[in-house]
Amino acid sequence: MQQTLPPGIERVLVTAEEIADANRRMAEAIARDYAGRSLVLIGVLKGALFVTADLARALAEVPGGPTDVQLDFIAVSSYGNAHRSSGEVRLTQDTTHAIEGRHVLIVEDIVDNGHTLHYLRAMLGNRQPASLRVAVLLDKPYHRAVDVPIDYVGLTCPDEFVVGYGLDYQERYRTLPYLAKLRPEVLPA
Ligand code: PRP
Repeated sequence: MQQTLPPGIERVLVTAEEIADANRRMAEAIARDYAGRSLVLIGVLKGALFVTADLARALAEVPGGPTDVQLDFIAVSSYGNAHRSSGEVRLTQDTTHAIEGRHVLIVEDIVDNGHTLHYLRAMLGNRQPASLRVAVLLDKPYHRAVDVPIDYVGLTCPDEFVVGYGLDYQERYRTLPYLAKLRPEVLPA
């Protein structure tokens, strides 16, 4: 059946079912690696809101995973033009709990130029966690400016400006359940 898409959306790139499968695959790998340990997931707001929630619940469904999973959130903003960040990252909201001695997994929706994750790995790594790894739903490797290790990847992102499932364009489209390509005329030339 033909799906009616919101104005501004050209086509669906990744369906809600494909996103759920990717989250399940990441959860299975994470469950194996943290079996018997206590884990803190740190979601990076706002984009990673949905992937953090869905990954945490997928993790709870895998038998024999971490003993317990705690959730925390952090928010950063990066300066740049409307659809490409500049590399200057600023912390706008810190975690609510200390992470010293904890096993920490940063959860991101997307890695593009890599500056955000590079900043977060350095900042959180300085706080002496027992371990620090990264899970990313979408790896967009085409415009990487800094090399950042990613431990768990859900999907490779097409080289398009993607919105939905937490990702926005000017704060719109975040609540779409799928990942979609914007119509080119919506973006600045
Ligand atoms: C997006 C995304 C990542 C970051 C990745 O966040 O959620 O945090 O960009 O980009 P990079 O690898 O090029 O640094 P954004 O700054 O758009 O904020 P948001 O999550 O609040 O939408």
